[in-house]
Amino acid sequence: MEALMTVTGLPYRLHAKGKVREVFDCGEHYLIIATDRLSAFDVVMPNGVPGKGILLTQLSLWWFEQAKEIFPIHLVDQHTEQLAKVLRGHEHLISRSMLVKKLTPLPVEAVVRGYLAGSGYKEYKKSGAILDHALPAGLLDGSPLPSPIFTPTTKAAQGHDEAITLAECSKLLGEETFKIVHNTSIALYKMGATRAAKAGVILADTKFEFGKDAQGNLVLIDEVLTPDSSRYWPAVSWKPGQAQPSYDKQYVRDWLESQPWNKTSPGPTLPQEIIAKTQALYAECLKRLTT
Ligand SMILES: Nc1ncnc2c1ncn2[C@@H]1O[C@H](COP(=O)(O)OP(=O)(O)O)[C@@H](O)[C@H]1O
Ligand SMILES: [Mg+2]
Repeated sequence: MEALMTVTGLPYRLHAKGKVREVFDCGEHYLIIATDRLSAFDVVMPNGVPGKGILLTQLSLWWFEQAKEIFPIHLVDQHTEQLAKVLRGHEHLISRSMLVKKLTPLPVEAVVRGYLAGSGYKEYKKSGAILDHALPAGLLDGSPLPSPIFTPTTKAAQGHDEAITLAECSKLLGEETFKIVHNTSIALYKMGATRAAKAGVILADTKFEFGKDAQGNLVLIDEVLTPDSSRYWPAVSWKPGQAQPSYDKQYVRDWLESQPWNKTSPGPTLPQEIIAKTQALYAECLKRLTT
């Protein structure tokens, strides 16, 4: 299978082209198609991971089924049937597509952390806290936090998202919306972490997005609990005090860190073995969580 780097041949207007996904306007709904593009350090790599968009979409759809018990989701009713209609004649795209309600994304990314890793760990090492969240001393890279914390960022149209305080987030969203987004994100994280634990997987952290409809109702949008939006660690190899082996893009990031590259576009072409390993990790993650 070849990597699908961009979607062609659809009769719909391209509404937005993200780093990984393309959003088409189908009139009443948006059609979100996940390509096989891979982004790391906010740069899209020149070559993709064959089938990655399918794995991401299938995992997202599976999690949306669980998430809808907690909060309204953006998938249209009778999703399978509706999607088939919209993609008649383009059936090869079905497994990487979602048909969703048209919503206005909130200007923040709702990050929840249950473990210390990545930028959260870096921040903790510097200040002993993560913005508003005071944390106990002596935590290591990969340590569990006393309880999951909400660490929102801005949603930059271009470039890097920036961490913001809870007060800044509340100001951006309005207090009522902030409270709902905060509480729902924590509840969704807990649901995800509990379910993942049953499959021998640690959900270290994740990011949700929310949108508003014309009536002002909040809805869970985008992708949910995929390895692109989350840090997943196999529980067997988890050991605080080191960078954890993971099911996400960490493998690619580690390789990129070893390259003479300044993290601006274009990125280096990924070698075949890195592609194959990443593909296997995403596939393993999907299989583990959903079976
Ligand atoms: N239901 C929805 N309505 C409107 N926009 C959405 C909806 N669901 C997701 N989106 C947006 O679609 C885009 C998906 O593409 P993606 O590749 O993730 O972009 P990005 O590079 O911004 O992460 C995101 O900008 C996301 O906010
Ligand atoms: Mg995205």
